[in-house]
Amino acid sequence: MTTRHLITSAIPYINGIKHLGNLVGSQLPADLYARYQRARGNEVLFLCATDEHGTPAELAAAKAGKPVAEYCAEMHEVQARIAAGFGMSFDHFGRSSSPQNHALTQHFAGKLAENGLIREVSEKQVYSIADGRFLPDRYIEGTCPNCGYEKARGDQCENCTKQLDPTDLIEARSAISGSTDLEIRETKHLYLRQSALKDDLDAWIDSKSDWPVLTTSIAKKWLHDGDGLQDRGITRDLDWGIPVRKGDADWPGMEGKVFYVWFDAPIEYIACAGEWSDATGGDWERWWRTDKGADDVRYTQFMGKDNVPFHTLSFPATIIGSGEPWKLVDHLKSFNYLNYDGGQFSTSQGRGIFMDQALEILPADYWRWWLLSHAPESSDSEFTWENFQTSVNKDLADVLGNFVSRITKFCRSKFGEAVPEAGKFGPVEDALIADLSARVERYAAHMEAMEVRKSAQELRAIWAAGNEYLQAQAPWSTFKTDPDTAAAQTRLALNLIPLYAVLSAPFIPDAAAKMLTAMKITDTGWPDELASFLQQLGPGHPFEVPEVLFAKISDEDREAWAARFAGARA
Ligand code: MF3
Ligand code: ZN
Repeated sequence: MTTRHLITSAIPYINGIKHLGNLVGSQLPADLYARYQRARGNEVLFLCATDEHGTPAELAAAKAGKPVAEYCAEMHEVQARIAAGFGMSFDHFGRSSSPQNHALTQHFAGKLAENGLIREVSEKQVYSIADGRFLPDRYIEGTCPNCGYEKARGDQCENCTKQLDPTDLIEARSAISGSTDLEIRETKHLYLRQSALKDDLDAWIDSKSDWPVLTTSIAKKWLHDGDGLQDRGITRDLDWGIPVRKGDADWPGMEGKVFYVWFDAPIEYIACAGEWSDATGGDWERWWRTDKGADDVRYTQFMGKDNVPFHTLSFPATIIGSGEPWKLVDHLKSFNYLNYDGGQFSTSQGRGIFMDQALEILPADYWRWWLLSHAPESSDSEFTWENFQTSVNKDLADVLGNFVSRITKFCRSKFGEAVPEAGKFGPVEDALIADLSARVERYAAHMEAMEVRKSAQELRAIWAAGNEYLQAQAPWSTFKTDPDTAAAQTRLALNLIPLYAVLSAPFIPDAAAKMLTAMKITDTGWPDELASFLQQLGPGHPFEVPEVLFAKISDEDREAWAARFAGARA
């Protein structure tokens, strides 16, 4: 039975190119899962977009000397191109500034207001005299009242993940100018009454017994710690954003204001499906409306741990509060942080490796393999150049690449470029097939469970089993005394290449495609029955020796790259 999978990755901010730490916590594992589910024959809608509103976009545009709309359009193209370079198989890469998201965000606000879940608050907000503007939350820095972290932002403390309001900060200063010449001015804003939805959210989280503890513990903490779930401001005094309206109608008193970026960004998950429909003639409601067929959709979200509160509380509050039959997330996969060589990856400090730079050095598969096989699942993990070199050289070059090259070259030299016919499989081959069958099942179970590292480990073991078989049976020696047995061994080993291709494709799609091209086979299907799968390339089936799949990383390269990335990005 096929399943329908709606998969979203946290949508990256528009301002600037993401680093590998961002990639491994959202887009990359989401792509892994999307590719895997497609390979299992399931129907997938995989969506991502750029998160375009808010002050960071305004400021980045100002810095680039461009109107913000133009800046966002350009950066969207840049991010789309780099994501494609990393092999992201999005069905649509949308924009939170799309007309579809404007309409839908205003629609949700209207519904929430109708249901009594919005209150208007006249509040005092921080105005920076030096900067000549109200300072949005993110652009006020100060000390976190919860944990004492000195560089907490006005919206959230990245040290303890607490959602904050700027006025909570101790010793607040402007993050734009550093000025402490801040003044409080009166302005009117809308608040989402999350507190009124606390019991619904609590019950909903309780129903998710299969969620990672990382996810539920963060949600529970903000539901119950301190005064419990707080109402949340959803509007801002900014020019760039989605104008505050009640559905199609004006919202008296809210003229000139826009919705808060964290209100409209998750709604883009839905709007993005609409953009996809408009571009392809698809039926987005079938994926998002439980009254229109989406009740049997399995919806999975991928994100870094700092995004969890917004996805477990604020966005579900919007959906539940609308009273309309929208899909809620079924599974939320969150990640810890990836560190870079003894410190943190940092966009603001330009520290670490950024997506565009990574692709300048090596093809996507090298990065995909390292990042996924070291995904920060149960704890933070760390990128070091030594570890990267070892992983690439061992797993990709010595095990997988070497296997493919060795057996295809051997066959070409002794039997020609076609699968040899002679000989029969014996007990050693049966044992290998039985071992691999069990491993393929374990691999599939880990992939279903989104256990990224465990999946990578099992895949590596599957590659190694083939390599060990070849090493032990050594058809190049067998050939001298028993060419028929050598032919059978070669036939089996050649058939492992399509197996490796289909299993590895979610991790290393380009190499997988090269393996299939070399073996002159397009669609292998999933190896449900391994014994028959391993006879797909029958006697006489032509192939060619592929170019080297993975080049080794030399010590000189490693050292040069380590030096190049030691400082901050210019
Ligand atoms: N742009 C945010 C980040 O990079 C993620 C937004 S996810 C969404 O942390 F839910 F708001 F869409
Ligand atoms: Zn804190």
